[in-house]
Amino acid sequence: MLVLGIESSCDETGLALYCSQRGLLAHNIYSQVKLHKDFGGVVPELASRDHARKLLPLLEQLFAEADVARGDLEGIAYTAGPGLMGALLVGASFAKSLAWSLDIPAIGVHHMEGHLLAPMLESNPPAFPFVALLVSGGHTQLVAVEGVGRYQTLGESVDDAAGEAFDKTAKLLDLDYPGGPNLAALAETGDAVKFRFPRPMTDRPGLDFSFSGLKTFARNLIAAERGTAPLPSRPVMADIAAGFELAVAETLAIKCRRALVQTGMRRLVIAGGVSANKTLREVLSTALAKVDGELFYARQEFCTDNGAMIAYAGWRRLAAASFDVAANNHLDLAVEVRPRWPLDELPSIQESA
Ligand code: KG4
Ligand code: ZN
Repeated sequence: MLVLGIESSCDETGLALYCSQRGLLAHNIYSQVKLHKDFGGVVPELASRDHARKLLPLLEQLFAEADVARGDLEGIAYTAGPGLMGALLVGASFAKSLAWSLDIPAIGVHHMEGHLLAPMLESNPPAFPFVALLVSGGHTQLVAVEGVGRYQTLGESVDDAAGEAFDKTAKLLDLDYPGGPNLAALAETGDAVKFRFPRPMTDRPGLDFSFSGLKTFARNLIAAERGTAPLPSRPVMADIAAGFELAVAETLAIKCRRALVQTGMRRLVIAGGVSANKTLREVLSTALAKVDGELFYARQEFCTDNGAMIAYAGWRRLAAASFDVAANNHLDLAVEVRPRWPLDELPSIQESA
């Protein structure tokens, strides 16, 4: 089965072709970073318009790269939520119209399920069951995963998501949007133990997180260190960035280990933008080695938003669905998206071996 995947939930337009026999055939991505940079964050209306502008040229480029014709497509997967309403609607309308014109099924994919399954695109995919740590700009969640759609949330952030904490702290350090990768780059030159940030909520039982206090800690530290200047010196800012990053990584690692012990599972999958963070990967590998755990993650470009994860998750669901083309029940023309969509609400699927 050949499936086209379309991601447009936020500020990246991502497309990919996934073939059940040959794997990932091609993928491309257009990032709107430059468009939103001057505003210090994503402007939803600009994002929607840019998705509308880029989808068709990216699709043509994708077909050319994979040497595939649109008539070869057997299904289309698009991100149906969570995300920005307008941006989601652009992708959904595009996907549904194309599917209708080709008389093939279209399926709405949960963005976080896409992230969660992305490590399966790698050469050493994780087997079920596993614990997933989903860490993106909008989500921080620990999930027990028994299979596709068989998710149980074990814990989540009670305030900021990990990526959001990175972005907000980066702003305090006067770094450009997107803050996470820029803060991580600055942290590389810093001393992570010069300033000791707290490890929030690790001194009490449970698997929930809280990251908003780290941002406040950073704000106070910056105020204390800058003297009469607008900001501390670059080396001190690097130390603050490194201390913050290590605190996030160690806090996540403590909870991940706890989740493995609690569930009796030994595989940990990390997914979402923050899983691209090198310090987090290192801290987690060390923590997991102590409990004989195994760590899985996607290649860097598939940690952040991309079309490949949507094509893959869509394929898993399309392959398990039964569509009766003659009865024409394979294409529901209603364009529905869910800006908010709890992962636990997804139906599980019956997969043939
Ligand atoms: O999954 P993603 O691309 O989009 C959402 O679904 O939100 O995640 C984006 C988030 C942003 O907050 C970004 O700053 C963060 O992931 N991020 C990182 C890194 N790369 C992306 N945070 C820390 N270190 C990175 N290397
Ligand atoms: Zn994402």
